[in-house]
Amino acid sequence: MQEVAYLDWNNSMEILNKAYETSLFVLIIGPKGTGKTSLVRDFAKNKNIDLESINFSLRTRESHLIGTKTLSNGTVSFDEGLLTKSMREGNILYLDEINSAEADVLLRLDEALDDRRQIALKESTGEVVRAKDNWFVVATINPLTHSGTKELPPQVLSRFPVRIRLEYPPENIELEIVKKHVSGHESEIMQAIKLANTLRQAAAVEELFYSPSLRETIAFGKLLDKGMSAKEAAVFVFGNVYTQWGNIEYQKVSDIITSMFGS
Ligand SMILES: Nc1ncnc2c1ncn2[C@@H]1O[C@H](COP(=O)(O)OP(=O)(O)OP(=O)(O)O)[C@@H](O)[C@H]1O
Ligand SMILES: [Mg+2]
Repeated sequence: MQEVAYLDWNNSMEILNKAYETSLFVLIIGPKGTGKTSLVRDFAKNKNIDLESINFSLRTRESHLIGTKTLSNGTVSFDEGLLTKSMREGNILYLDEINSAEADVLLRLDEALDDRRQIALKESTGEVVRAKDNWFVVATINPLTHSGTKELPPQVLSRFPVRIRLEYPPENIELEIVKKHVSGHESEIMQAIKLANTLRQAAAVEELFYSPSLRETIAFGKLLDKGMSAKEAAVFVFGNVYTQWGNIEYQKVSDIITSMFGS
């Protein structure tokens, strides 16, 4: 898929640059689909530095970060994990959804992130790996309302002293972003953005279970590019998902869609 350049609508790139130049690690906080991953990818691309990404979940183990011993033809070797590798190479480490990691994994990460910037490979030779000077770490967390997320322990939080907030953008900016991904249909896309914002606001006050992101408004535009009508695209992209929470939930959203896009 073609990479779309990040539209830097709230100066996040400049903050990332300043943090990079001062070796201050960055935490990006924001709900799903607000451009966190795209921002960091584009930052690494602009800087022409490799990006190592770890997507945390409850199943992420220390070995994913540090590495694992492997045995082949009677020889034991050590396959370095992404943390070890990025420290050695001095590139950018992207820790996605760091607040879904288990406590033991965070503890190990914390060892590397503190001011000594080093890690002892106790699972292999005991060698101490020191991070190169230009090693840089960016982590993301979803707000605590997001299911499956936990509070990040304060000591881990304090390793990321620069915090960027990414929220859903204002309407006109969201339109500019969607237009980067699709080719036309400006007025229908604006309608879809208004619909998305209505649903987001309802979800924020817990009147609905789901809040659509920029992924949905972009998907809507793409379906229109393929010749689908706005009403139909709204049903497929925004409406049908609410069936998961039952017919009443679905009907609420369906009525909003009909009022905005006709029946
Ligand atoms: N400022 C922007 N400029 C260009 N595209 C954007 C921007 N913000 C979001 N997008 C697009 O929106 C979609 C979602 O963005 P992305 O995956 O970066 O969000 P995220 O915050 O990392 O989401 P998640 O929390 O689910 O991982 C992508 O297709 C991305 O290209
Ligand atoms: Mg992401």
